[in-house]
Order: sequence, then C-alpha cells, then structure tokens
Amino acid sequence: MKLLKFKYSKFYIFLIAIFSVLSAILTILYPLIIGNIIDKIGSANNLSYQFIFLAVIFILLFISNMLLNYYLNIYANKVSKEIRNKLFSKVNSMPIKYMEKYKNGNIINMFSLDTENISNGMIQSISKIISGVFTIILATIIMLKLNIQLTLILLVLSLFMFIISRFVISRTNNMFNKRANLLANLNSYTEEIINGKTNFDNFNYNEQIIKKFAIKNNELYKYGYKTQFYSSLTNPSTRLISNLAYIVIAILGIIFCKTSSITIGTVSSFLIYTNIYTRPFNEITSVFSEIQTALASYRRVSIFLKTNFTVKNINTNYIKLPEKDNYSIEFKNVSFSYTDKPFIKDFSLLIPNGKSVAIVGKTGSGKTTIINLLNRFYEIDDGKILINNINIKDIELNNLRKNIGMVLQDTKIFQGTIKENIAYGNPNASFKDIENAAKLAYADSFISNLPDGYNTFINNSDELSEGQVQLINIARIMLSKPPILILDEATSNIDLLTEASIKKAILEITKNSTSIIIAHRLSTIQNCDFIVFMDEGRILEIGTHSELMNKKGSYYNMYKSQFE
Ligand SMILES: Nc1ncnc2c1ncn2[C@@H]1O[C@H](COP(=O)(O)OP(=O)(O)OP(=O)(O)O)[C@@H](O)[C@H]1O
Ligand SMILES: [Mg+2]
Repeated sequence: MKLLKFKYSKFYIFLIAIFSVLSAILTILYPLIIGNIIDKIGSANNLSYQFIFLAVIFILLFISNMLLNYYLNIYANKVSKEIRNKLFSKVNSMPIKYMEKYKNGNIINMFSLDTENISNGMIQSISKIISGVFTIILATIIMLKLNIQLTLILLVLSLFMFIISRFVISRTNNMFNKRANLLANLNSYTEEIINGKTNFDNFNYNEQIIKKFAIKNNELYKYGYKTQFYSSLTNPSTRLISNLAYIVIAILGIIFCKTSSITIGTVSSFLIYTNIYTRPFNEITSVFSEIQTALASYRRVSIFLKTNFTVKNINTNYIKLPEKDNYSIEFKNVSFSYTDKPFIKDFSLLIPNGKSVAIVGKTGSGKTTIINLLNRFYEIDDGKILINNINIKDIELNNLRKNIGMVLQDTKIFQGTIKENIAYGNPNASFKDIENAAKLAYADSFISNLPDGYNTFINNSDELSEGQVQLINIARIMLSKPPILILDEATSNIDLLTEASIKKAILEITKNSTSIIIAHRLSTIQNCDFIVFMDEGRILEIGTHSELMNKKGSYYNMYKSQFE
C-alpha cells in the first residue's frame, strides 16, 4: 500500500475525520432539540433560547460540512496529482518496447480514469464510512435512551429498506455494466471499420457492415432505455419505502403516546431520525462498490508503478558525455529482438569521429531499428553500443538523447509558424540564426516563397509537401548542431528540385557532426564517407559508393533499379 503514502496524508485524514464526526454529532443533535421545543409549546417557558440554539447548530453544521468538503477535495486532488506525477515519471523512464505492450489507451486511462477512481473512491469513502458508522452508533444510543420499542422497530424497518435498496441498486448496476460492455463493443467495431475503411471500400462489404452495425446499435438502444429507466427508479423507490416507514413510526408513536409516557416531542424526534438513520445505510453500501472500483484501479496503477521496466546491469552512476563537436559511434556484436524471434544478429559497425555513414536496404531490413537502439528507445539483448567509447548504458538517458539530433521518417510539423517550427527546442534562437539554419538546410528558398515567409502559419503537415517538411526538420537540426545527427528519410516521392535541396542539405549536415543517414533515394547519399547495405538485420555490404558499385552486388542492383 506504499502508493498511497502521501506527504500530508495523516494531517488531511485527521481533519476529514474530525469534521465527519462533528457533522454526524450535529446532525444527531438537532432532532432532539426540535422534540424538546415541540414538548414545550404551550408551556410558560420562553422558547427563544432553544430556537437560537437550534440556529447555532444549523450554522455549525453548515460550517462543518463546508470544511469537510473543502479538505476532502483538497486531499482528493492532492492524491490525484501525486499519482499522476508518479505515473508520468514512470512513463518517461519506460523503454518504448514496453510502451507498446501497455497499449497507449491503457496508459492514458491510468492518468484519467484510474486516478479519479482511486482518489474519489478512497477519499469519499473515508468520510462516508466515518460519518456513517458514527451516525448510526450515536443515533442508536440516543434513540434507545428515548424509547426502546420505537428504536427496535426503526432498526427493523431500516434493515428492510436497506435490503430493498440493495436489490434495486445491484440490478441497475448489472444493467449499467452490460450497457457499458455493449457500448465498448460498438465503439471498437466502429473503430475497426473506420481504420479498415480503405480495405472494405474495394469489396462489396458495405451492406453487411451496415447490417451488423444496426444489430449492435439496436441492442444498445434496448439496454440503454431499460438501464436509464431502472436507475431513475432507484431514488423514488427508496424514497417510497422510507416514506412508508415514516408513516409506521408516526402511527406507532401516536399509539405509544396515548398508552405510555412517550411525548409528542419524542415522536417528532423519532420521525426526523427515520430520515437521518436510513441515509448512512445506503451511503455505506454505495461506498462499497466505489471502493471495489477504486481497488481495481489501484491494483492496475500500482502493478504498473512497481514493474521494473529498466534493464538488468544498468549502471546507476550515470556518466555525461564530454562537450564535443562530434563523437565516434560503435556497435559491437549487437543482438536484438522485438519479439521472441532474433532480428538484429551480431551487428558490428564503427563510425569514427565526424564521419558520415549511409544505411540503405529494402524496407523492413532494420535501418530504423539501429537508430532506435542507439537512442535506447529499446534495450539491446546482447553486445555493446559505444559513443565516444562509453557504453550508452552508462550514459544518462537525457544526456544521451540531447546529443543526438534526429529527423525521423514520421517527424511532423507542429502547429505554428515556420519560424517557431525551426526554433523548436531552441527557443532563444534569434531570427538571424533561424534564417541561417534554413539557408544551410536549403529550405530558405521555398520558405521565402510562402505568403508570409517565415511567419507563415502552418496548421498541420498536410499543408506542406513531405520534402518541405523534411527540409524544415533539417533546418531545425542545423540550428541546434548536435554532435550526432540522424536523418531517417521518408519514403515518399519527392520532386527533383526538393531532392536536390535535400542532397545539398545532407552534405551540409554531415560536415561537422558524426552522422547516420538512412536513405531510400540513393542519389542523396553518394557523398557519405561510407555506405552500409542492410538485409534482414545484418550488414550485407559495406564500402564507399564507388567500391560498392564496382562490387556489383545488392547495392549496385538497388542503385541501378532506381536510375533505370
Ligand atoms: N515495435 C516493433 N515490434 C515488433 N516488430 C517490429 C517493431 N518495429 C519494427 N519491427 C519489425 O522489425 C523489422 C525492421 O523494422 P525497421 O523499422 O527497422 O525497418 P526499416 O529498415 O527502417 O524499414 P523502412 O525502410 O520501411 O523504414 C520489420 O520487420 C518490422 O516489422
Ligand atoms: Mg525505417
């Protein structure tokens, strides 16, 4: 139960308990005073003090309830904040490999739904249980003092009401669950169809799909109105029963009044207790289902937080890379698998200081995987990856990634101006710097032709061609000049003019940094220091452009297929 040990827990639970008990005492007290007042009507006594006392109790009750809710909400929100913080730092330290296992939706659910469930369930329950139990005990004692028979009758009636309301509530809960399942089912079906739309359009599936949807939707409709109808009955039916109990107590009270020493005032107090007494019974039962939901969420979150996602043998004394213009990168007998099947096998590659390597190969050959491993987005299974002769497992993760500038296959444009996009990550860059970076990236000419130049506002990547997006991303990297530079080129078709710009931009970025260029268009990488041809997670060929061309192997064939 470590998860819920928050800093100020004791302090808040204490305050919540105090005000819960205080509210319960005040609630139990006022029917007594009302009974007292009723008994004294018509007598010579001056009742103004009693009324003032009653007013004071009501005001105190208001203040106590207000403070109770105030501290409850503060505590609930503190707990939520704390859980979200813990979750976030966990997610941040989590290698992507696991991120995929924990489907994104589940993680988001932990941040929103589970967090709310825990804080609401646990905290609302604390106050409801404390004040409920206290109210029941205190009210029972006082009522027994007033009249034993009436108390016993009220107890029996309360239990009866409790059983009936449990029955109604559990029925509606079942229906709510069924309805939620049906809705989830319909949603996932809809999502499935929308995602696969392009596939389905080609065939004559449409009619079938619409029919299936209509059936699911109709089922949901039936459960929907039934659930809502039954749940709308819950309150009126418990109300009805407690009103009937009210009548029973009233009739018996009058009879007792005539036969024994019980006063009208005591009967009045009992009538008010009938109302007060049954409430905590219902509240405590509703709290139980809340607690169950909260516990389920709590279990999910704590298992997630407890799981050790970091890999074995990780050094805790992290090293920072020295500040340099570029580093050497070395893969030493690296093996890695996404699944049970080994994918990268015994991969070794040395990229000396400031050199540029191009990685080519057909789709799925493992090019992006190599980059993922260098960034420690995934942990390798075997071997070593060294930067500046330091094992990347020993390098502080933030420090490692800060030194690697990347233009990825699917890097997108953020909503904002071109200028802001280039300066992203370097918020202090001057306009001159931004313009220079764009010039080095050969992005300046197309940007200048946009209606507002660098101030053109871009809503999403679709407003630019993929090549232009890439040039902006290269400009962004140019601005920060990282010692290691990675460009994972998009596969899409890029016009010849943009291709020429990219080629020149690549030449520019490979000048100082140690760079890895993954290219699909072989024309852009001929000037790299050497070229690696990958196939099925292994290096098939390695050498300069002319060496590989002379070899007349896989690279040669790929090159010829692109230029013929
Ligand atoms: N998260 C993952 N889980 C399981 N398998 C994966 C994962 N990511 C990639 N793979 C698989 O690993 C192989 C290599 O993928 P990778 O992305 O490295 O290829 P690539 O050479 O970059 O291809 P492309 O040229 O299309 O970008 C592929 O077979 C791919 O399906
Ligand atoms: Mg790739």
